[in-house]
Amino acid sequence: MKPEIPKRIIVTGGASGIGYAFSEHLAQLGHRIAIADLRGADEAAARLRESGLQVIGLRADVVSETDVAAMAAATVAEYGGIDGLVNNAALFTTLALKPFEQITNQEWMRVMEVNTLGPFNCAKAVLPHLRESGRGRLVNIASTVPIKAPSNMAHYVASKGAVIAFTRALARELAKDHITVNAIAPGFTLSNGVLQTDMQDRIGENARTTGRCIQRDQVPSDLVAALAYLVSDGASFVTGQTHAVDGGSVFL
Ligand SMILES: NC(=O)c1ccc[n+]([C@@H]2O[C@H](COP(=O)([O-])OP(=O)(O)OC[C@H]3O[C@@H](n4cnc5c(N)ncnc54)[C@H](O)[C@@H]3O)[C@@H](O)[C@H]2O)c1
Repeated sequence: MKPEIPKRIIVTGGASGIGYAFSEHLAQLGHRIAIADLRGADEAAARLRESGLQVIGLRADVVSETDVAAMAAATVAEYGGIDGLVNNAALFTTLALKPFEQITNQEWMRVMEVNTLGPFNCAKAVLPHLRESGRGRLVNIASTVPIKAPSNMAHYVASKGAVIAFTRALARELAKDHITVNAIAPGFTLSNGVLQTDMQDRIGENARTTGRCIQRDQVPSDLVAALAYLVSDGASFVTGQTHAVDGGSVFL
């Protein structure tokens, strides 16, 4: 088998947490990575370049059409094209958990804005380049929460349900362009954001491991191989799917 030609891949929210683990792993496999984040992208990219990896950092707010257009243009300027997008940026670890009737319209709209408009904006911005690539890969980071429906985060649950539905809609529309669109649904993961906030305490021990076949905490490195597979050429016949990586707490 011929070795696979590396891809040029944008990872949103890649400066920290799960997104950083994704960026590092894909770069270690030889892919060329653009980390796009509200904050810390340059520093994260510089850290990975110190290990000899090909990574650039771009400041971008996924909600801003101007920022994501610049993100796509800068990636093309650096690498000559774009073969993949990982829509990972989202509001999660900073969410206030509360019963749904206490969630304000503003809080609801903000979560929807970052978690659903963000991936939509980024997908639109890179689409011409994925088409040109001829082997485009779009991976949305969803969650198992739309299946498990935990209490006190209705806005987040609804936003990740939308991400799964969006994944299916795009898979249908983009297959003709040889672009696959899939989602990864992580279980509760001890990312930097989770560890640096009190999210672990707020979620509670039960929600973390109850119902998992594999009874241990999930960490970002548990997720990276699933992403590597989905962006690979070998996954060219896999599209519209949601891959739960959660120690077996849901069966999709
Ligand atoms: N940690 C978990 O338990 C868990 C579980 C299921 C799914 N997820 C999903 O995994 C992804 C990463 O989660 P995490 O725990 O690493 O989160 P995190 O909060 O640690 O990291 C999120 C990253 O996204 C960036 N970001 C936030 N808003 C942005 C914006 N508007 N534009 C650009 N970048 C922005 C942040 O700066 C940060 O670097 C998210 O999509 C999250 O919903 C997380």
